[in-house]
Amino acid sequence: MSRVGRIFKKQGLLPQSGEPMQVIVNTNENINGTLVLPLWQDSKNMVAGSESGLHRGLKTQIETILEDGDFKAKSGSAMTLAGTEGGKALLVGLGKEDEATLQSMRESGAKVTASLAKIHGKTLTVRFHGMEDVHMGAFVEGMILRDYSYDHYKSKDEDSDDTEVTVNVTCEDEKTEALAKSAELSSAVATGVYLARDLGNAPPNDMYPMAFAEQAREFGRKHDNVDVKIINYDEARSLGMGGLVGVGMGSYRKPCIVIFEINPGKPGPSPCIVGKGITFDTGGISIKPSPSMDEMKYDMHGSATTFGVMQALVASGHKDRVIGLTCMAENMPSSNAQRPGDVITTYSGKTVEVLNTDAEGRLVLSDGLWYAGTELNPSYMIDLATLTGACVVALGHEASGLWSNNDELLNNIKAAGEHCGEIAWPMPLFKAFEKEMTDSKIADVRNLGAGRWGGSNTAAAFLKQFVPNMGDSDEQIPWAHLDIAGTAWGAKTNKMVKNGATGIHVRTLHHLITGL
Ligand code: BES
Ligand code: ZN
Ligand code: ZN
Repeated sequence: MSRVGRIFKKQGLLPQSGEPMQVIVNTNENINGTLVLPLWQDSKNMVAGSESGLHRGLKTQIETILEDGDFKAKSGSAMTLAGTEGGKALLVGLGKEDEATLQSMRESGAKVTASLAKIHGKTLTVRFHGMEDVHMGAFVEGMILRDYSYDHYKSKDEDSDDTEVTVNVTCEDEKTEALAKSAELSSAVATGVYLARDLGNAPPNDMYPMAFAEQAREFGRKHDNVDVKIINYDEARSLGMGGLVGVGMGSYRKPCIVIFEINPGKPGPSPCIVGKGITFDTGGISIKPSPSMDEMKYDMHGSATTFGVMQALVASGHKDRVIGLTCMAENMPSSNAQRPGDVITTYSGKTVEVLNTDAEGRLVLSDGLWYAGTELNPSYMIDLATLTGACVVALGHEASGLWSNNDELLNNIKAAGEHCGEIAWPMPLFKAFEKEMTDSKIADVRNLGAGRWGGSNTAAAFLKQFVPNMGDSDEQIPWAHLDIAGTAWGAKTNKMVKNGATGIHVRTLHHLITGL
């Protein structure tokens, strides 16, 4: 590699993770490689019928351990058996059978992947017996979701073994078809989750607005049923996108809007996902303190999720039209950066008094939402944004905040989040918050609340000002806002991910849109 090549490591497309682990569903006969045995809490023996193909030595060892209560199979526990005649095994605790949920099963599956070490080898056989289809499916989904790490920038040892793990999953004859289908869907959707994580984890020197756009353009080239359109900096300026331009103009890496259209020929109106894509948020002139500023590379996770949803829809074969729009900018301080005190005119024509340049996500989204609502024929719009620290104060890392102008949409998103184990928690859109954001002395809207209280609610109230009405009616397009500041990365309790970007809500939105 040339010296320049070494300094600017990645030219061209960003590194991407490969396909999810291979999962092959079979009937309970042979066992290849290490046996993975999921067990309900306090099982005293193996479920009758689950022992076929098992070597007697290994079976005896497992039964002794269970009889003696040496492995209680509590949720989140695992035990490796090795050195016995008859192969190796990994016992996995599922917790109490009558308390099992889709999420507890996913977490047990994820525990398997997290526990894998050299000793387990590269081939596994997961042996299910007497279990519900949906529980087995969720377990496999958890295994797949946890099988991700971002190591593209690490030098590889000559002798490092990159072979992927192959997972044979076995169950009763009559259940194999349903389980194979579910595993196939989980793998398809996981390609979208992995993509969102790859984009989120990419370092901000390589992940900048036009780098994201190039990645999207390549995605469009690869798939016949995907159109990708970029609104570049000059076009954004001529269109009057003052929010996007104001935030992005301080950076050498100029802002842009990326528009994805899946199955563009199909008639609309269609679901529309809008993502905040700040590839690095220094705060701008209202600069942030240095500790943990590196984490602001994840400030584009709303756009990463949007792209991930598009990938998941394509991979799962979705046939209807869906739109994605991402607002990409880098928020930098410079002689050309916007200042606190500036008044900008957004694409909607509404003016905004910029009182804090660190409240930039709402500015780029103001243009994105107005453009999507007026130009792209959405049936509803859902924006995702790492918008406020206040949302992390309110909900920690356990849930994204969820605001909506439409109860049905809110309830559907909440239900989809629950189904997928990605909680979205309802938050209020009180009139008082809207009033607070629209009482600027010199502009239509202000980008900062009057005080710091309820900061995630005032941010949502700001966004609501930029949701257009439906056609000629005086009712707004159904819209929801997900503040993912606490869930996009760093959630230690999220068992589906080792570290870094989580790919949050790719699965929620895929489920919401497809019902699958
Ligand atoms: N990107 C941040 C929000 C954020 C903070 C996400 C911490 C994840 C973790 C956003 O642009 C921001 O800086 N918001 C300000 C708004 C304030 C100036 C009204 C905040 O939350 O402090
Ligand atoms: Zn900010
Ligand atoms: Zn931000």
